[in-house]
Amino acid sequence: MAAEEYFTVQVDLILLDGPLPYNLYINSAGDSGRVKFIRVFPRGDILLSDDLKELQRKYVQIYLSDDERDDFVQSLVKSSSVAIEDKTKVVKDSAINYLDKVFDPEKEFSTEVLEETIKGCRKNVENMVDLITDEDLSLSGLQKLIGNLSYHDFYTFDHSVNVSMYTILILKETRPESSKDDLTLAGLGGMLHDIGKVEIPLYIINKAGKLDDEEFAIIQSHPVRGKELIETQKKELQGVDFETIRDVVFQHHENYNGTGYPNKISGEDINFYARIVAVADFFDAVTTKRSYHTPLSLNDAIGIMENTVGKKLDPEIFHALKATVSDIGTIEKSHIILPDDFDACQPHNKLPIKDYDPATQDHNLFEKNKKFGKVKVSKKKGS
Ligand SMILES: [Fe+2]
Ligand SMILES: [Fe+2]
Repeated sequence: MAAEEYFTVQVDLILLDGPLPYNLYINSAGDSGRVKFIRVFPRGDILLSDDLKELQRKYVQIYLSDDERDDFVQSLVKSSSVAIEDKTKVVKDSAINYLDKVFDPEKEFSTEVLEETIKGCRKNVENMVDLITDEDLSLSGLQKLIGNLSYHDFYTFDHSVNVSMYTILILKETRPESSKDDLTLAGLGGMLHDIGKVEIPLYIINKAGKLDDEEFAIIQSHPVRGKELIETQKKELQGVDFETIRDVVFQHHENYNGTGYPNKISGEDINFYARIVAVADFFDAVTTKRSYHTPLSLNDAIGIMENTVGKKLDPEIFHALKATVSDIGTIEKSHIILPDDFDACQPHNKLPIKDYDPATQDHNLFEKNKKFGKVKVSKKKGS
């Protein structure tokens, strides 16, 4: 990563009254069009509110070195005086910025790039784990925070970061005893699940219209391509379990009933984290605001996902996710359904929604779903 890159920082997000975990810079070249960054406040010193006001008075813009971006994000996540919306935006922007940089189309993708990617992603994911656990976010809370922050045309990075955050949250709910390392590993799997798409032409990735057979086959090759990429990474990286990441990347399009791809494996033969990523992937695909289609409400998203439980999604994981929806009251059974071959990793102009007709569905499945058709969840006091 180039050492001389800097980014502007919103002044009210700079940490006050404690040892500053990063240096502050200004661009001393002024309006000349050139850039010359000089340090105006050193890492480790205590920055007081008056110091900051003085810096603001003297300089138009304050910068941080890109090398210290992770320290900035970490200090922000840990700060009690920063709003959750700001924390989430910075965490998400930082992760997307990172992926944007390492997947520079000008750069050839190599083992070194992959190693750098995984190391950098790990730090980003750790910040996400801190955010989600410290703030004890629910699914609806997280969805409100990130669903509308999605503005990138290049679908994959924004989507990868969302899937990573949802994956962390779902694991935390499904297995509350999970350690920070477990949550980080799962989040890393979510972040990298579509890594195989770096080998697929952008026009196919971003094509929201109908893909022809050849294009469809190419896009469906991304789990295999991703697995092969991960396997080129021979070196050990501390704290990173490559086998799990490889399995998540390879198996996130397998369906619980064995109808997915590439290997049509089913049930517990699919890596547990891959099954979680499949739920997170689906949820992000239908709820996130994108240029491709109107997002579903949380209620419809949960309802539509419920219709695929046991087919596409793992029942245990889905119900753990559903249990985190704490503030939308009664969840109505959805009367809409997505086709069994709905592919969460593919953009859609319009979600291919159909009406749900129980008569045409597998009877047992319907009976099973009916049990969960109306779930009363505790409402907040006073609501
Ligand atoms: Fe995918
Ligand atoms: Fe995906």
